[in-house]
Amino acid sequence: MDKFQKPKGVHDILPGTQEYFTYIKKVVRHRARQNGFKRISTPIFEFTGLFQRSIGDNTDIVNKEMYTFPDRKGRSLTLKPEGTAGVCRAYIEHNMHTWPQPVELYYIEPHFRYDRPQKGRFRQFWQYGFEVIGEADPALDAQLIYMANKIHEDLGVADLFRLQINSIGCAVPECRPRFLEDLKNFYIGKERSLCEDCKVRVEKNPLRLLDCKMEDCAILAKLAPKMKDYLCKDCKEFHEQLLEFLRDLKIEYVENQSLVRGLDYYTKTVFEFWDRETGAQNAICGGGHYDSLVELLGGHPAPAVGFASGIERIVDNMKREGIKVPMKDDLHVFVAQLGFEAKKKCLPLIEKLREAGIKTLGALGKGSIKAQLGMADRFKVPYTIIMGTTEVRDETAIVRNMQKGTQEIVPFEKVVEEIKRMIGKENLDTYTPGEVVY
Ligand code: HAM
Repeated sequence: MDKFQKPKGVHDILPGTQEYFTYIKKVVRHRARQNGFKRISTPIFEFTGLFQRSIGDNTDIVNKEMYTFPDRKGRSLTLKPEGTAGVCRAYIEHNMHTWPQPVELYYIEPHFRYDRPQKGRFRQFWQYGFEVIGEADPALDAQLIYMANKIHEDLGVADLFRLQINSIGCAVPECRPRFLEDLKNFYIGKERSLCEDCKVRVEKNPLRLLDCKMEDCAILAKLAPKMKDYLCKDCKEFHEQLLEFLRDLKIEYVENQSLVRGLDYYTKTVFEFWDRETGAQNAICGGGHYDSLVELLGGHPAPAVGFASGIERIVDNMKREGIKVPMKDDLHVFVAQLGFEAKKKCLPLIEKLREAGIKTLGALGKGSIKAQLGMADRFKVPYTIIMGTTEVRDETAIVRNMQKGTQEIVPFEKVVEEIKRMIGKENLDTYTPGEVVY
């Protein structure tokens, strides 16, 4: 029979990587709680129009990268390529403008883009993201960037990345239209030096001309007009204050005139965290300010700021740096048994051990004691309980210390207590989900 393989660009998250995901989610949840953010989950798919209107019709994401399909009634749906659009749709749909402002939300979710698969670039990838909706102040932008960096610090990767920051001004009515006009004029007559994508961008999305990675395009972009010279008084003041707050918060940054981001909803602040050595291709985090998106989606005007980080890229960096995360899946005890009577006694024993918070694996299939001990070795358990016919008859069990290679005979009814003492109360896995109120 033919074997199935996973589709190109997606990946299995196996044990060995799974604990990094768990750890990152834990860190994110902790920082979110500390900063007063509430978690939101939006659907995996939304109406296609939501993304077209939010991200922009002339962006790579909308043009080339969306997983779009008709449902059974012929309505166009799209797997979410990013989180901001869905969160803003939910803000409007649930009248969150009536909640205390700003509304601070975060998410940890998979996203889907028909991207060209390569290292750190997948077709299904996880992001954690934060959105602050309903109020605008450079201090909010600064606080959010500070938190993004704090999470990187918690994960041990902050030193690998540096903040790149820019202001792309306001879309209406002030600074950006003037800039875009001059930018287009600059490129007129130079089209022949541009890559095929950029030739289209001159008319359709001139801002993206500035961050093209093709050599000739990049040379031209360096000579092109700079947004900084076009910022209106408001945008200029906003940006200067933000940079001052970042300096106060001791966040190192690089002012990057060619940083424009690949989504159309941004106004004023845009930022990314770039790998200090390899550059933008491996940005682990990107975000910015978006003053008009909620209104554009039919809501009351609500300025906002947010960011999202790619979890796979963070895991890659943590692993490359040799950063280990705590892992709670290690077993405490292996139960080896021989004979039907021993197996009968071991079944309830295994359950008692587990109830007591002792992580236990039992070899309940057939196999010699030697083979079972070999398994215990492979699982690297610190202790093995051995039950054979003698132990059943004597109402005892052998408890073997796998590291020292020593063993002792323990009365059967004392085994659970004895193992608890050996592994230490603090190491028991007795997680409770918290109390519910009736
Ligand atoms: P983005 O820059 O498109 O922004 O994505 C944020 C992060 O997601 C990137 O920095 C990267 O780490 C990760 N990422 C993006 N595409 C892929 C991929 N194909 N494979 C693996 N990782 C990927 C946004 O999505 C905005 N919604 C961020 C935002 C929130 N802006 C305001 N609020």
